[in-house]
Amino acid sequence: MRFIFLGPPGVGKGTQVKRLSRQYAVPSVATGDMFRSAIAKGTSTGLEVKSYLDSGLLVPDEVTIKMVKERLYEDDAKRGYILDGFPRTIKQAEALAEIVRQTHQRIDRVFYFNLEEGEIERRILGRRSCPACQQTYHLIYYPPKREGVCDCGATLIQRKDDQPETLNARLSVYQEETTPLIDYYERQNLLERIDASGTMDDVYERVRCGGIQALSS
Ligand code: AP5
Repeated sequence: MRFIFLGPPGVGKGTQVKRLSRQYAVPSVATGDMFRSAIAKGTSTGLEVKSYLDSGLLVPDEVTIKMVKERLYEDDAKRGYILDGFPRTIKQAEALAEIVRQTHQRIDRVFYFNLEEGEIERRILGRRSCPACQQTYHLIYYPPKREGVCDCGATLIQRKDDQPETLNARLSVYQEETTPLIDYYERQNLLERIDASGTMDDVYERVRCGGIQALSS
């Protein structure tokens, strides 16, 4: 199975991808998590991308495409993967199409998550993230067992780009750079629209009914 999860920041893509990845034993490839991990480790990629993440701008296509390409050629991705937050531009989508073509594979479906802006803001502003294991929580919708502490024991943080000053920049970048992908994948008959409102379980069921179940069997 090869799936793409597309949608605005904070809509709930990562939450579903992590669960599906565990459920179906398929690796998730989440570019935001990969960049944050590189920043935490202080790698050259981390140093290069930090200012983009902090300001809510997209990392240049060349850097992102190179990182994803290397990841998709790793052994565990041969049987499939779930892409979370990639592609985000037409250039990235074209690069992905080329990787898929070269490896004689295909993308099975693109899940496009949609949600009204007020709820997106509530989800982003209430999110708390674990810098160690990348698990996310929400102050109201999905609080940790111990306040401020991840189940893995690390102290939870609020991502710098989840603060109100950066939120509008991220939403504008999404509108400008990423929404053209909706048409791009609709024209290829790959797009599955998912109503991302309701509980995490509601959304999970919609994604399963939207094709994951059938394609994974
Ligand atoms: P990235 O980490 O990918 O951020 P994003 O796409 O903006 O997505 P988010 O992680 O903000 O949200 P999500 O949809 O995964 O929501 P979540 O499940 O956490 O990217 C960060 C940055 O990296 C970018 O700005 C850019 O700089 C760079 N980058 C990444 N990819 C790139 C690319 N391809 N090209 C260039 N640059 C790139 O949920 C949000 C909150 O809501 C959580 O608290 C969660 O607990 C809660 N929640 C989830 N579902 C529900 C529900 N159904 N009900 C109630 N609460 C819910």
